[in-house]
Amino acid sequence: MKYSGVLILLILVHSALWAQKTFTVDASKVGTEIQPDMYGVFFEDINFGADGGLYAELIKNRSFEFDQPFVGWTPFGDVKVMDEEPCFDRNPHYVRLNEKGLRRGTGLENVGFTGIGFKQNNTYRFSFYARSIDGAEKKFRIELISDNNTIGKENLLVSGSDWKKYECTVKAGETALKGKIRLVLETSGEVDLDHISMFPTETWKNRENGLRKDLVEALYDLNPGVFRFPGGCIIEGNTLETRYQWKNSVGPVENRPLNENRWNYTFKHRFFPDYYQTYGLGFYEFFLLSEDLGAEPLPVVSCGLACQYESTECVAVGDLQPYIDDAVDLIEFANGPADSKWGKVRAEMGHPEPFHLKYIAIGNEQWGEGYVERLIPFMEAIQKKYPEIKIIGTAGPAPDGENFDYLWPKMKELKVDLVDEHYYRSPEWFLENAERYDSYDRNGPKVFAGEYAAHPKSRDNNVAGAIAEAAFMTGLERNADVVHLATYAPLFAHFDAWQWKPDMIWFDNLNVVRTPNYYVHQMYAQNVGTNVLSITSDGDIISGKDGLYASSCIDANTLEIIVKVVNASAEIQTIDISLQGLKGTIQDNQVLVSCLHSNVPEAVNTLEAPNNIIPTNTFINTNKNNFQLKALGNAFYICKLKIQP
Ligand code: AHR
Repeated sequence: MKYSGVLILLILVHSALWAQKTFTVDASKVGTEIQPDMYGVFFEDINFGADGGLYAELIKNRSFEFDQPFVGWTPFGDVKVMDEEPCFDRNPHYVRLNEKGLRRGTGLENVGFTGIGFKQNNTYRFSFYARSIDGAEKKFRIELISDNNTIGKENLLVSGSDWKKYECTVKAGETALKGKIRLVLETSGEVDLDHISMFPTETWKNRENGLRKDLVEALYDLNPGVFRFPGGCIIEGNTLETRYQWKNSVGPVENRPLNENRWNYTFKHRFFPDYYQTYGLGFYEFFLLSEDLGAEPLPVVSCGLACQYESTECVAVGDLQPYIDDAVDLIEFANGPADSKWGKVRAEMGHPEPFHLKYIAIGNEQWGEGYVERLIPFMEAIQKKYPEIKIIGTAGPAPDGENFDYLWPKMKELKVDLVDEHYYRSPEWFLENAERYDSYDRNGPKVFAGEYAAHPKSRDNNVAGAIAEAAFMTGLERNADVVHLATYAPLFAHFDAWQWKPDMIWFDNLNVVRTPNYYVHQMYAQNVGTNVLSITSDGDIISGKDGLYASSCIDANTLEIIVKVVNASAEIQTIDISLQGLKGTIQDNQVLVSCLHSNVPEAVNTLEAPNNIIPTNTFINTNKNNFQLKALGNAFYICKLKIQP
């Protein structure tokens, strides 16, 4: 009796704690405007995100420019690296094959980036630049290999002693996850080869020098409003010499000089000495991709400081002019008329129309006075020539602390348009900081949450992390007058070649896995709304009590009201959602409810089960202007209804 009494008491206390809640949306007052491009993506060539990832080139070290020129290649027979009278002056190495009629043959194999993915019946566009030393015709056999079997074959004939491009299409007879390619010189004599390249014929929009279709589709489906590129730390470089220089990334792809990738040896436990940047995916391709995605391009440029984590190297303020020129010229490259110096480069690459660039970020995760004094001359030069361009400064690598506290007031003083904040923190931090922006100065620069991700202890892209991000993002939406842009980071990771996790989208040579974090961001980006609506419980914002978070907005164009609810607790909670001040009725008396949920906070999507955690849609009925949401634990909901005026 005694024990059952205690039990009853416990049950009563429990039910009181988790009593039914009422959330009230005030639709009578259309609130602050939400930037249409608020939720976007941040691309950096980390985790083999570009070469070996989004950039669909299948051959590693195609120009023999890696420090060890045969990395990626297995030569057989007489093959040597040369650089006299090269085909491309900025990528001068090439190989000379000398076939002497011996049985072993002469040629090369390439293993791609952790193997080459082939899909049965798909075709591959193979090409190289070649010259026959004596000018006579020479025959090459090109083979696609899987498990040492030939699964595709073509011949290419080379003739003439001048460098020329040769190409053919090879069909894969089988699917292979980790295939390779073999080139065999079948005719005796000497031939020089350079820029040996192979792309799937089917790329995004079937462009040559194209992007992996499945990966761009994943980006497209996100509906990103903004596209930040190309980094991240790679814009700074470990040294100034190896910083990302956009001018090296435009023009003919064969002559874009190779750069090391700054993520090659950053983490000793994830060591990738074969990680370089070909810049095949360069600034032109980034702008084009932004346009394809309908996202505002947001390039980041070096401010003359090498990565401050790795180095103290910097350009003296008085010597910054070439760096400033790079920033100003970039705006001309994007927006200038087709007969301007840099606009012409863009036009010659195939895009005479401007790319309508609106934003530029100066520096990435910089800190200290050294950053501020360098930012000033950049701002002066950009504002003088392009006053309409919005300039983004940084608050350093962390969302708080000394650097942050120093930089924010400086950014206000300088009147940058937006301040880039970065936070890689635990899921608990995200849950506890959903009110972060409620107290921000409404009259200062706007916030660009340029890099963030919840990092669970396991560093997995699990449901707990995704739900914490969803909760935090209710605070971004509620404060849309302050927070103008938000991009998760990093974007991509190759399962076999990552340096950093968690990441939004994982892939191998053939498959893509969209993470729970991806779906949270997609749900936000597909439901941006135009204006914030107030949503409260007992007159308070809903931000953490009983693990519940909520925000609400209206799309004034479509007359849809969108309510976002996160239940970060493990318990089911029943919530009455009441819509007050509606100027009309709810269409069909129905609410479309999308839900991302798992009972298992550690749950992830994998190559074997990529759809383990995906949003599901249902309808629930309204009762006049109310509806009831039974919110499962560890769940993120979007409730959408249309007003019939
Ligand atoms: O997103 C990975 C890295 O995190 C970025 O390159 C850098 O800006 C941050 O430190």
